[in-house]
Amino acid sequence: MERHDSTTSFRQASDRLEALWRPEIARLRIPSIGRSEAELLATLAAANGARRALELGTAIGYSSAYLATGMGPAGRVTAVDLNPERAAVARSLWTRAELGEQITLHEGDALALVSAMGTGYDLVFVDLLWEIRENALGRQLARAVADALRPGGTLVADNCGQDVPAARGLMDEVANGPFRSETLLPLGDGVFVAVKE
Ligand SMILES: C[S@@+](CC[C@H](N)C(=O)[O-])C[C@H]1O[C@@H](n2cnc3c(N)ncnc32)[C@H](O)[C@@H]1O
Repeated sequence: MERHDSTTSFRQASDRLEALWRPEIARLRIPSIGRSEAELLATLAAANGARRALELGTAIGYSSAYLATGMGPAGRVTAVDLNPERAAVARSLWTRAELGEQITLHEGDALALVSAMGTGYDLVFVDLLWEIRENALGRQLARAVADALRPGGTLVADNCGQDVPAARGLMDEVANGPFRSETLLPLGDGVFVAVKE
């Protein structure tokens, strides 16, 4: 499969990612984001000229494939998930998509690992708020993400339109933290987007 480059349109690249990932998402019953949300992620990454993205909650690598595609071949994704079986599938699919060199997956608890993942990220995608559940953990994650982002960097978080305590905690912490704008989009399970000061 070709990556997204000057000879491949974004539409073609997205079609190819869907062809690779959708059967596996269905077979393994992965709670992945939808295609519109994935394309939004890629577009936000492209819009802020992102070269470094951090993803917390990667599963079998669908959303991180879109992040890598949106950033182009120079972009790098640092991904975190605690499920080793899903991690193995993710690595295999990234190789098939010719995105393996762009994405590095760390296996473990994102809450424990996030501060060791470095700083200066252009974009951070949080997709484990439903799983971590607790309001205090959402708040903890928001503070860690604020530290990980560069000034002007973008936070994107899924599951924020649902009644998920961790999502409420993350959004409340962002509202009182070093962010200059935020919005909650009625897309999928509710996509929260905020830009760091
Ligand atoms: C909603 S899925 C991610 C879907 C993925 N972003 C996509 O759209 O294809 C959430 C993932 O978070 C992982 N997860 C849950 N709690 C975690 C934690 N504390 N640290 C790291 N990963 C976690 C789960 O193993 C699961 O694969």
